[in-house]
Amino acid sequence: MLTRIESDELVHLVESGAKGRRYQVVLQPGSCFSFAHGVVAHDDVIGLEEGSTVNSSLGEQLVVLRPTLGEYIAKMRKGSQIIYAKDIAAILSLADIFPGARVLEAGTGSGALTIALLRAVGSEGEVISYDTRREFQEIAEKNIETFFGKVRSAADAHAGKPRLILKEGDVYEGIEEQGLDRVILDVSEPWRALHSVEQALRGGGILVCYNPTVLQIYKLSRRIELRYGRSFRVMGIYEVGVREWEIKGRSMRPQHRAIVHTGFIFVARRLVPMRDGR
Ligand SMILES: C[S@@+](CC[C@H](N)C(=O)[O-])C[C@H]1O[C@@H](n2cnc3c(N)ncnc32)[C@H](O)[C@@H]1O
Repeated sequence: MLTRIESDELVHLVESGAKGRRYQVVLQPGSCFSFAHGVVAHDDVIGLEEGSTVNSSLGEQLVVLRPTLGEYIAKMRKGSQIIYAKDIAAILSLADIFPGARVLEAGTGSGALTIALLRAVGSEGEVISYDTRREFQEIAEKNIETFFGKVRSAADAHAGKPRLILKEGDVYEGIEEQGLDRVILDVSEPWRALHSVEQALRGGGILVCYNPTVLQIYKLSRRIELRYGRSFRVMGIYEVGVREWEIKGRSMRPQHRAIVHTGFIFVARRLVPMRDGR
């Protein structure tokens, strides 16, 4: 396992304390990072073991850590609203994303979910990501490259990396791929994509839709009930709340604020009709 920090790596420099400010830096030989508490030469960080401390020119101590996926997406550039880490974790689990899976998502947005999917499908897997807006995909592409370095594209194969195909396309209009293991939709009218998903998802495959309002979930459920009952079985609708706790000496209590509602996670499985068409 890689513990020494290398050049061109993405790291966070974290001030002391549980809530210490963190600064995101891509390390380049000869460069410097400046902030309110001095300067840190990238060369002083390159070669350190992850978890080491560096001193800035003004004596501020900073811990050097590779960011977790959640820490990275909270800081990365955003074109659209992203799915946050608490919901990404639940989506990966409820969609049962596995190494080697072929997963389609729409829309790409800023690429937060795309990054998590790429990591979960691993080097044998494939993520196909549709978005109607190329400008969002350009932001997502940069975010993904900053986190992973290069991923495999359709044409160019980097062994040992997951394969990503970014497509400018409208999922309501159709999905070119077939036999997909999973489809994840983060679009505002997912019921309009049911026909496309019906064609593209393999039997037993999982459809997850992520939507902020109950009216969207209601419309999706009703459309399945009225028109797609033979093709999809609804498995559950979930939301995830997170409440952080604070420990200060002998005082141990929940934070005053919690993240309760961000979005609903709707899960359905693709059914295969019976032989006599029922
Ligand atoms: C909320 S953002 C997705 C955020 C993304 N899941 C993330 O975590 O960064 C919704 C995206 O869906 C795209 N979109 C909306 N309708 C679409 C459609 N019919 N087909 C493909 N993409 C669509 C939008 O352009 C937008 O980028």
